Amino acid sequence: MKILLKGGRIIDPSQEFDQVADLLLEEGKVAACAPHLEIEDAQILPCQGLIVCPGFIDLHVHFREPGEEWKETIASGSLAAVAGGFTAVVCMPNTKPPNDNAEVTRYILKKAAEAGLCRVYPVACITKGQRGEELTEFGELKEAGAVAVSDDGRPVPDAFLMRLALEYAKNFDLPVISHAEELSLSSGGHVNEGLASAKLGLRGIPPQAEAIAIFREVMLAELTNSPIHIAHVSTKAGVEIIRQAKEKGLKVTAETAPHYFTLTEEATFGYHTNAKVNPPLRSEEDRQAIEEALADGTIDVIATDHAPHSPLEKVCEFERAAFGLVGLETALSLTLRLVERGSISLPKMIELLSCAPARILKLPGGSLREGSLADVTVFDPEARWIVTEEELNSKSKNSPFLGWELKGRVIYSIVSGKVVFSRREF
Ligand code: DOR
Repeated sequence: MKILLKGGRIIDPSQEFDQVADLLLEEGKVAACAPHLEIEDAQILPCQGLIVCPGFIDLHVHFREPGEEWKETIASGSLAAVAGGFTAVVCMPNTKPPNDNAEVTRYILKKAAEAGLCRVYPVACITKGQRGEELTEFGELKEAGAVAVSDDGRPVPDAFLMRLALEYAKNFDLPVISHAEELSLSSGGHVNEGLASAKLGLRGIPPQAEAIAIFREVMLAELTNSPIHIAHVSTKAGVEIIRQAKEKGLKVTAETAPHYFTLTEEATFGYHTNAKVNPPLRSEEDRQAIEEALADGTIDVIATDHAPHSPLEKVCEFERAAFGLVGLETALSLTLRLVERGSISLPKMIELLSCAPARILKLPGGSLREGSLADVTVFDPEARWIVTEEELNSKSKNSPFLGWELKGRVIYSIVSGKVVFSRREF
């Protein structure tokens, strides 16, 4: 099977390539890239006016299978992923039961294969049951297909246990992803401590709950000489600690999510539960710091933290509502706003959404070099659309962006040389 993408602007930061050209995909691999390719037996995808780039890789999604399939299944989440241009996703272990043993890891991979849309890479728990008491069997989990370990959704509260996890993970070359939250400061909180907590009369979560935890992780990375990846950074204080750690040469990487550079705590002001997320939406000063950190390389990756919840968990009092929002299908458009206002370039955007995530978790993809996986995202940066529940493919509709008019739409998502999602006839 050959697919020829004709006349798109091909942007591949992995080889500093940015040119209008044709791209040939053959037998699941990138076969050629040149200004004009004529291939007789290839299926043609017209890409004039479109951007063609390595498939986006989301380092942080919550698919709710096993256990909470009314919110999202691996199949519905995979569809949301490819509709958003993500050809691969890394799914967090806080399912029910949590992914703390090889059986759950294999189940996730089996469901992903049945869905047959994007690549799904499971992350296994650091501790059994995410209880923060006893490490899981990293070797077995890696063998079953886990690509990293994390207790995401919860931090590992005990510094000594986290130290052990970093040392143990190094033996298996398993990346560790930290949900950095100092629970003794954040517990019982619902929104950012500051304007939002004062205005809404709700218990706040101070930025220091994140910063203290990030600082601990940086210190442990230094102590163990291990890499660590910090999930969903939301604060200026957190950014500053990561910047210093990088200046020191520590192996610290970080991600943020589109809601942290798009929204502030003001989005919660009407008790809007779709804007209730953990870590919480922060101040304008924090938002700006996140945007700057993306531009200067302090934050390496944009991930979505796609966290589907149904009306059962969201249409209720703010204090009872679950934390989380769906992000897979709005990430591209929201990130393009950074490009439009000149904070980052289009190639930098693709680096943040594709090349860097591949590099950090050592995943295949993130490149259109000849011989690379034929995982490709094609999007129209100008197409306008309105976010509605009907437009979203995710089973859950808990987006704070419902009703927003956005620019930028995925036209084709291609995995292993197969068009798995298309908004056009071809
Ligand atoms: O808002 C969040 N939702 N933050 C998390 O850490 C977990 C996630 C979820 O699983 O719903």
